Amino acid sequence: MRRRLIVGNWKMHGHGDQLRQVEAIDAAFADFPSLDAALCLPATLIHSATQQVRTIRVGAQDVHHADFGPHTGNLSAAMLREAGATLTIVGHSERRIDQHETDAEVKAKAEAAHRQGLDVIVCVGETLERREAGEAEACVVTQLAASLPAGASGAWLSIAYEPVWAIGTGRIPTLDEVSRMHVAIRSELWRLIEEAAAGVRILYGGSVNQDNAAALLCCPNVDGALVGGASLAAETFVPILAIASAATGNRAATIVTE
Ligand code: PGA
Repeated sequence: MRRRLIVGNWKMHGHGDQLRQVEAIDAAFADFPSLDAALCLPATLIHSATQQVRTIRVGAQDVHHADFGPHTGNLSAAMLREAGATLTIVGHSERRIDQHETDAEVKAKAEAAHRQGLDVIVCVGETLERREAGEAEACVVTQLAASLPAGASGAWLSIAYEPVWAIGTGRIPTLDEVSRMHVAIRSELWRLIEEAAAGVRILYGGSVNQDNAAALLCCPNVDGALVGGASLAAETFVPILAIASAATGNRAATIVTE
């Protein structure tokens, strides 16, 4: 059975004084041993955060696809690992849109991260335009196939389904839409990597909060959540961890593995 994974994505938020939130989240997380959790922080906070945490994992939000070289302003997977990160997000829609990252680049980033022993979360998700055109599943499945790193395995890879129009907007898809998309992603994973698909966790992301987390986490094939705004403070993130931990007991009844 896949363990639930809840990941906070702090984006470009967080200075040293917010490390007390990391500390508080970490302290609370000790109560949820059946859950996996991580905070993907701005690179500037990774090292300090790893000095404070005891249970929660610390990750990055992006990585360069090269191991080293003339890439001013970028960070390699080895640098992130040296700072203390044990995982990284790649292909977040904010990067796909703002930095024009392609599927091929996202795949190369995921492979570079894995080469250095980092776990990887590959993000996929459709724009509102594609959803309204009835192309959401086709869009996501195409993105997934082209972004999936070689040797993909649940031992180190998760997928985050994040509809672009649900990020930071307070809007979420219907539970039926979430379930259908997660089943489509699982099926595509089976097509691409066969049995290895069974262990890959598929997270939902986009306006997850303590009011909608229980319903989202009970959808078939939703193995966790990627949480932006609500992960910035213990007050809003810890309740999501608690809900995910409580929902773990119901999984046998709700999970669809193939
Ligand atoms: P949000 O962001 O929870 O603030 O919508 C999620 C994400 O972009 O990962």
